[in-house]
Amino acid sequence: MSMTQPVKVTVTGAAGNIAYSLLWRIAAGDVFGKDTPVDLALLEIPAVVEKAEGVAMELRDSALPLVNSITVTDDLKVAFEDASAAFLVGSRPRSKGMERADLLEANGAIFTEQGKAINDYAARDVRVLVVGNPANTNALIAAHSAPDLDNSQFNALMRLDHNRTLGQLAAKTGKATKDFSKIAVWGNHSATQFPDIAFSNAEVDEQWYREEMIPKVAKRGAEIIEVRGSSSAASAASAAVDHMHDWVHGTEDWRTAAVPSDGSYGVDEGLICGFPTICRDGKWEIVQGLELSDFQKERIEASVQELREEREAVAHLLKG
Ligand code: NAD
Ligand code: LMR
Repeated sequence: MSMTQPVKVTVTGAAGNIAYSLLWRIAAGDVFGKDTPVDLALLEIPAVVEKAEGVAMELRDSALPLVNSITVTDDLKVAFEDASAAFLVGSRPRSKGMERADLLEANGAIFTEQGKAINDYAARDVRVLVVGNPANTNALIAAHSAPDLDNSQFNALMRLDHNRTLGQLAAKTGKATKDFSKIAVWGNHSATQFPDIAFSNAEVDEQWYREEMIPKVAKRGAEIIEVRGSSSAASAASAAVDHMHDWVHGTEDWRTAAVPSDGSYGVDEGLICGFPTICRDGKWEIVQGLELSDFQKERIEASVQELREEREAVAHLLKG
């Protein structure tokens, strides 16, 4: 197999739980392909950068053939310079007594400065996937902070919600996840999200779908925290790999990606919202022309309303 030029990939929050799984998947060629070497840039905050050095040591010790170089840094320019792909995983978790607005504010500052650095230093065709929560609004802030880039270059991760939907359907029916098509999760990566199987080939009881599956998927993040004792990590990394892989290589079937709205289905233009999408020639296209029932419209509107409220809470970061 002939090798292509190395791709520079930046991962923020490199000492964290998700990165500990994500970095190995990227290094194994699961995103860019088995013929594409990677230059890995690991960004951390100064207080934790030494721990990220430890992660880099382990990466080296894995002797992965596609790893061309590893850089550990707390410097945004070093991290994002010439990056072709960036996984923005690092963000501040919610702590005791912290309101959603406080979290938006704390993380808003992070995504403003990272968006600016990406704007100034990254490759002009960089693909940016925001994983850190609240992912959709963080991606909105980062996109806004990068005026020289197209906002379509900024996505938020909702593939985990998509994969969770497939997992539930497979467990219910005894089929494999690959047997289901035309699945999508609309809205925000939060408990208001709307996992939608109305267009799919899934044959399940409507009551189970509405009363059990939807809340199960929408609240799965909290369930994992409760049962596992910490937030989803390997499954989040796996979903991030799936998203970036499909963004680079394209898709046939629908996938869920949180992308800037073009105004489709009543979603305000620019909001970063989960949609049914297909990726062609490196661009996500929102599936058009779907006839939505009142139930679907109501569920989508409720989640989009939450996205509007989040946008309002960070409006001061979106000026100018
Ligand atoms: P973690 O706390 O284990 O790691 C986060 C890391 O980010 C920490 O090491 C921290 O030092 C670092 N960090 C914080 N601010 C940073 C900055 N400005 N620059 C660089 N690094 C910074 O958390 P985790 O389990 O890896 O999760 C990371 C984020 O992903 C959280 O916000 C979590 O809620 C979110 N998440 C999203 C999804 C999704 O589907 N969108 C799924 C799971 C988790
Ligand atoms: C998840 O979906 O697992 C994460 O976003 C974590 C959370 O807080 O729900």
